[in-house]
Amino acid sequence: MTPAARLAASIEIVGTILERAAAADRVLAEWQKHNRYAGAKDRRAVADQVYAVLRDQGMRRWRLQAAGAELTPRLLVMADASTPLAEWQRLCDGGRYAPPALSEDEAAALARLPSDEDAPLWARGNLPEAVLPLAEAAFGADTDMELAALNGRAPLDLRVNLLKATRDHVLEQLRGEGITAAPAPFSPLGIRIPEKVRLEQNSLYRDGLIEPQDEAAQLAGLLADARAGQCVIDLCAGAGGKTLLLAAAMRNQGELHAIDNDPRRLARLPVRLARAGVRNATVHAADDLPRFLQDMEGKADCVLLDVPCTGSGTWRRNPEARWRYDPAGLDEVLRRQAGLLEDGARLVKPGGRLVYATCSVLPAENGDQIGRFLGHHGEFTEVPLAEAWGGAITDPRISSGRRLSLTPYRHGTDGFFAVALRRAG
Ligand SMILES: C[S@@+](CC[C@H](N)C(=O)[O-])C[C@H]1O[C@@H](n2cnc3c(N)ncnc32)[C@H](O)[C@@H]1O
Repeated sequence: MTPAARLAASIEIVGTILERAAAADRVLAEWQKHNRYAGAKDRRAVADQVYAVLRDQGMRRWRLQAAGAELTPRLLVMADASTPLAEWQRLCDGGRYAPPALSEDEAAALARLPSDEDAPLWARGNLPEAVLPLAEAAFGADTDMELAALNGRAPLDLRVNLLKATRDHVLEQLRGEGITAAPAPFSPLGIRIPEKVRLEQNSLYRDGLIEPQDEAAQLAGLLADARAGQCVIDLCAGAGGKTLLLAAAMRNQGELHAIDNDPRRLARLPVRLARAGVRNATVHAADDLPRFLQDMEGKADCVLLDVPCTGSGTWRRNPEARWRYDPAGLDEVLRRQAGLLEDGARLVKPGGRLVYATCSVLPAENGDQIGRFLGHHGEFTEVPLAEAWGGAITDPRISSGRRLSLTPYRHGTDGFFAVALRRAG
């Protein structure tokens, strides 16, 4: 592909992502499927350009607004600070595979882009202006640095499946394949790979020795301290990322129940369980949720509530998502989380544990939610982190206090919140 054809492809893809409110990685995968002529280098160049636009979207929106221009996909792609107008005019020559020539208005707008010195924090932090106050409430004096980290590229974190392998074995295998891999900083199950790797082709993945899982999600799962022989419930199991971790922690012994109210997500779980060699998990049908909640009342040693949330902690993985976030929808999310806390609490037996987790950095979904729950439920108390890990983790950076609050800047993970509550025995 010529540089002009790559530019045309980037514009088309950015347009699709914005117009269809679709996930960037899906749109890119679809484009690749339908444009087989694009070689590996072309695909990489187009993906890099698309992600560069998405990670710089705040600045580009601000520059275009300041220039009085429309926010079209073409202009968003071209409103970068470093490419001279003449270069865009050269590329947009209207040739067969090139973007159409720039209109007079477009060229004038690109010539008028302001200097970045005056850019406000929302633009620099790549966040809608209306969402900035929420980020400031979450990060305080660190807002600038946290937003920069939340806008960076996430590494690939893997979780080693202890049912099938040790971390040392997997590290050795990966390195043997020439892959740069290191133990993750906090999770004893984690491996960090800085570069992109195609896992689907890798036998370690195909044989169930590893699963991609951000280190923060691993830590939230480990906070359950699930043990062999227990009765453990994963109430928001989704496609089962944490169910797999719980099964391995239980060494395949005891009862592990996975359920979710979304049958499509649950449908992916059986294949993953089989690949991971899990034998102690029962996947319940989403339709059975009301009966399950009744039948299991007071029976669980541990209930994991990996609740639906804004996902604000994962915005570095999908930089387009922040521009779709609508603060007006937060109340509904909070209501669902509070309802799930009530559902989960009923399942915990005296002396048992309830773990609440979100991949959000917003206090309303995290500490505030837990504070409200504890205000109504004197039978639950927070387990100090040092104790909650059950000896698995002693690093003081994540084992002091009672609430696990991870952020991209401070911990190099997705933003995540988790807390373990004990029901009086
Ligand atoms: C953050 S996701 C879970 C991700 C999953 N635990 C994992 O590790 O891959 C939250 C899940 O909660 C589910 N959910 C939402 N409301 C629910 C409810 N009332 N009861 C059970 N699950 C619910 C959603 O369908 C979604 O799969």
